[in-house]
Amino acid sequence: MNLSLDNLINQKLFAAFQKLGFDTKYAVAKVSDRPDLSDFQCNGALALAKQEHKNPREIGMALGKILEQDEDFAKVSVDGPGFINLTLKDEFLGKIMDQTAEDKRFGIPEEENKHLVVIDSGGPNVAKALHVGHLRSAVIGESIRRIEKFVGNEVISDVHLGDWGTPMGMILSEIILQDGNLDKTQTYNIDEISAFYKRANLRCKEDESAKENARLITAGLQDGNPEYRKAWQHLRQVSVAAIKKNYEVLQAHFDLWLGESDAHKASGEVVEKAKALGLAEKDDGALIIRLDEGNKPKPPVILIKSDGGFGYQITDIATIKMRYEDLKAKEIIYVVDKRQALHFEQVFEAAEKLGLAPGVKMEHIGFGTVNGKDGKPFKTRDGGVMNLEDLIHLSKEKVRESIPSADEVEGYTPEDIERLVEQIAIGAIKFQDLRNTIGSGYIFELEDFAKFEGKTGPYIQYAIARINSIIRKAGENGIVESNIVITNKEERDMALKIAQIGNVVFRAHLEKEPSIISDYAYTLAQTFSSFYNSSSIMNAESKTIAGSRLKLARLVRDILKQLLYLLGIEAPEVMLKKA
Ligand code: ARG
Repeated sequence: MNLSLDNLINQKLFAAFQKLGFDTKYAVAKVSDRPDLSDFQCNGALALAKQEHKNPREIGMALGKILEQDEDFAKVSVDGPGFINLTLKDEFLGKIMDQTAEDKRFGIPEEENKHLVVIDSGGPNVAKALHVGHLRSAVIGESIRRIEKFVGNEVISDVHLGDWGTPMGMILSEIILQDGNLDKTQTYNIDEISAFYKRANLRCKEDESAKENARLITAGLQDGNPEYRKAWQHLRQVSVAAIKKNYEVLQAHFDLWLGESDAHKASGEVVEKAKALGLAEKDDGALIIRLDEGNKPKPPVILIKSDGGFGYQITDIATIKMRYEDLKAKEIIYVVDKRQALHFEQVFEAAEKLGLAPGVKMEHIGFGTVNGKDGKPFKTRDGGVMNLEDLIHLSKEKVRESIPSADEVEGYTPEDIERLVEQIAIGAIKFQDLRNTIGSGYIFELEDFAKFEGKTGPYIQYAIARINSIIRKAGENGIVESNIVITNKEERDMALKIAQIGNVVFRAHLEKEPSIISDYAYTLAQTFSSFYNSSSIMNAESKTIAGSRLKLARLVRDILKQLLYLLGIEAPEVMLKKA
């Protein structure tokens, strides 16, 4: 069921346009720019008049005459040069609300061409602790995963672990340098492995021969040297375990834990195909594919590096082949830092030239950086990179400041409080991220992001808990839900706001933009506040009005919960606040 109000109005417009033999592409309504005049407006008469060289007002009047006969409209007027203004009858709005409240999907449409979407997000690297830069990919990726599933697509999320590049050779050579061999590798835990990587990184920055050695070991590892492979296996496994723990706290789910290494065999096949198609070229010891110059010349794609190893580019190209052949993907979405835009342009073009995934839609959703107050990438107080774990810790500390401890509230154990702290802290981090458009970076706001007021996750969580308590009280007072009737302006505004839900979620899906949902969730919660302050449930004029308002409140609560779910955020049943 598609209960999106714009859609219903569009259908009415469509019928009117058709009846008069007008081009129906102009039969579109939008939420009115002048809420004092109308609920919706259609400006189609103007564009149509231009096309047909006719008078727009006359066209508008003719359409208005037909629309007037529709019982669902309280008022139809043609204003100015030919704007059609439409005001809905309260009864119609009430009926739509009832249907929305009865529908598990709130009338949100499903994707017509359901298909398999692969989401490539997370992108963590072996031996490196997750830091704040990894936050966005996991958080945005998870939200897109939930949105895509909700509209009916099949989704496979793949973490695409960085486990095959030069950093692997760097760690192995560092261990050999310090221990003499790789024998002790199996005993190292994640902290020790990260420390090896840090040291290796410093060394390779200063010492060209160390770098060369790391490259050779990487090539050896890729070639199948059993000793390197065995040690690497351990590094990978320990890292994955640590990363999994982090993502669990963030509630980011990955169906596949494949890595760059899993594309090794397919990389070989890509090279063969490139050779067979005559696309591969030797260049300075490397094997490359030149890309079309077009209007924006791109550097060639490197298939095999001059040291004989596979690099970042071919790995991604080969992974496309696998996702097409093994997973049968119809769409692949990469949620990766926007500074990698050129990489994905190159990779997509190479895959296209090689005919690796015919008909598959590939998209790079590039996100901006998480910055500190100085506008530079977010750092710890002492200037280091902010680890994800530290960030979560920090956020929890902030939340603890505003909620009571277990001995201050009845019926709560310290564990209950901790659980609540975590739900709020993670909600605050995620909402702060998802309230920004993906492409723009944002400043990680350490003071206000976990507050219960303002455009924050906790504000929405609090709004939900408040409605929960309203519903409980209404129940205690014997109020039961009844059909929705619109009796005042605030109820009307509430209903019109709710009616946007279908459009909002579907747009978030089409544009792959969760901030459309976070924006709406925020304004919906605000509209609820005004509605509730003016339209009492407990002291309503009649039983039916009380029941109607209760149903509206319940509907807003259910929708807010659904929206938070789509953002990947939990909604605690009850919220606590320090007095
Ligand atoms: N591991 C990479 C990095 O840290 C990100 C991987 C993104 N995904 C991809 N398919 N390239 O930069």
